[in-house]
Amino acid sequence: MAGSKTPNHELSAMKCPVSLADVDLFSPGAQEHWYEAYKILHREAPVHRIPGEGTSPDTDGFILCKHEDISHVVKDIQRFPPVQYKMMPVLDPPKERVDPKDMPIPLHAMAKSIMSLRPNPELWKAHKTQLTDPWVGPGAARHDEMITETVNSLIDNWIDHGKVDFVKEFAAPLPQIVMNNVLGFPHEDMAQLRVWSDAQVKRFVYGTGHRNFLTRAEEAEQVKDLSEFGDYVQALVTEKRAYPKDDMITWLTQVTYEPFDRKLTDVEIVGIVYAMHIGGLETTQYAIAEQAQLLCEDPDLFAELKGDRSKIKNFVEEGLRLRAPTQGLSTRMTVQDEEFQGVKVPAGSILHLRWAAANLDADEFECPMDINLKRKGLTRHLTFSQGLRSCPGSGISRREQNIAWERLFDRIDSMRYAPGNTFLHQPGIMLGTLELHLEFTKA
Ligand code: HEM
Repeated sequence: MAGSKTPNHELSAMKCPVSLADVDLFSPGAQEHWYEAYKILHREAPVHRIPGEGTSPDTDGFILCKHEDISHVVKDIQRFPPVQYKMMPVLDPPKERVDPKDMPIPLHAMAKSIMSLRPNPELWKAHKTQLTDPWVGPGAARHDEMITETVNSLIDNWIDHGKVDFVKEFAAPLPQIVMNNVLGFPHEDMAQLRVWSDAQVKRFVYGTGHRNFLTRAEEAEQVKDLSEFGDYVQALVTEKRAYPKDDMITWLTQVTYEPFDRKLTDVEIVGIVYAMHIGGLETTQYAIAEQAQLLCEDPDLFAELKGDRSKIKNFVEEGLRLRAPTQGLSTRMTVQDEEFQGVKVPAGSILHLRWAAANLDADEFECPMDINLKRKGLTRHLTFSQGLRSCPGSGISRREQNIAWERLFDRIDSMRYAPGNTFLHQPGIMLGTLELHLEFTKA
């Protein structure tokens, strides 16, 4: 039927897995079958080995799918350090380190900023509470008015047309405009900033395997773009030191970092801004685009939420749980021999934390595939991770998603799929719907 959801399995470059031997989460087309693969992994291999893909050729990678395992790993930063620590002097012998000088400027800045501002777990906490929480964490409510204005003006662009490419005309521009305003990037630089943000996430879209490797040519192009972005942010930091404005970059030039009782250096600020920019855009876009699909597939739920806006908050959490934008990351390593679900995981392994699969773990969530607005402990999902290194931008992302749906329910009476959707996703490890054509009835 025109407009109804076409299974995208047919169009995928990969066959849908039916047994463990078919499961491959990383090859082209795998995105279309992730949810079938998770069922098999939960049933047969919740700790799944990827031979030869650990921190060295003689070690392995392991995909973790159980909620309890991932929750345990992310809360113990000493025992399961972030893999990026390999490039820092904190935990690794110098021979294994990547010299920061070999990295593009903002990556170098990010590594330096981590090394100098939060070299240990206590300082991870201070970094979050003092430097990012006031702007993108719990303090993000300060942006409600700006987010509301942005949402309304985007809706104004298409509300009289009866149809919309929801990704291009709403879900993608919203987080970009919001983060540009928060950070204090000039509006006229939007198009160029999009190019740089694409360069930032390139590894997670076009990278291969669980560690998201780029080819040398792709890396060279990325280094060029990222270096330009680094110079741009550095120039803005200089400008904002001289001519302060009301934005996060200006604030970072003025704040005193309490643990060291000093101001931040330019390099530290560039590192923080780089991280905000890579984290803050596509992820929220994907979340909103997936929530729109959940609502198209369940018109009764649409009507229920429109009738009682107090339920939007819980819908957003269930949407984040069911369709995690960042499906998994090879983000932690083992420094001693470990065991998960009876499977031995030696020191030097890389742990691929599959947040999206853990969110569907029936041992943690009853009837995990159902949207249950009354579910207890709705924020237990692992979409933003947990613990000291959990996503610092979850506050602002949640504000954007909630305000988006509050205003959309104000202005739309119903919505459905328009003809012509393929429902295909972009490559890589994010759940990124490429395009989403919707028809709607204006309120
Ligand atoms: C739905 C939206 C989002 C999702 C699903 C998401 C997911 C995640 C996850 C899973 C992590 C943990 C990675 C790890 O442990 O290695 C993370 C970290 C991070 N996120 Fe988000 N994120 C979102 C939105 C944002 C936003 C809006 C920002 C910025 C304003 C942001 C900035 C960051 C940064 C900077 C980190 C690294 C934290 C660190 O190094 O301590 N994210 N995010």
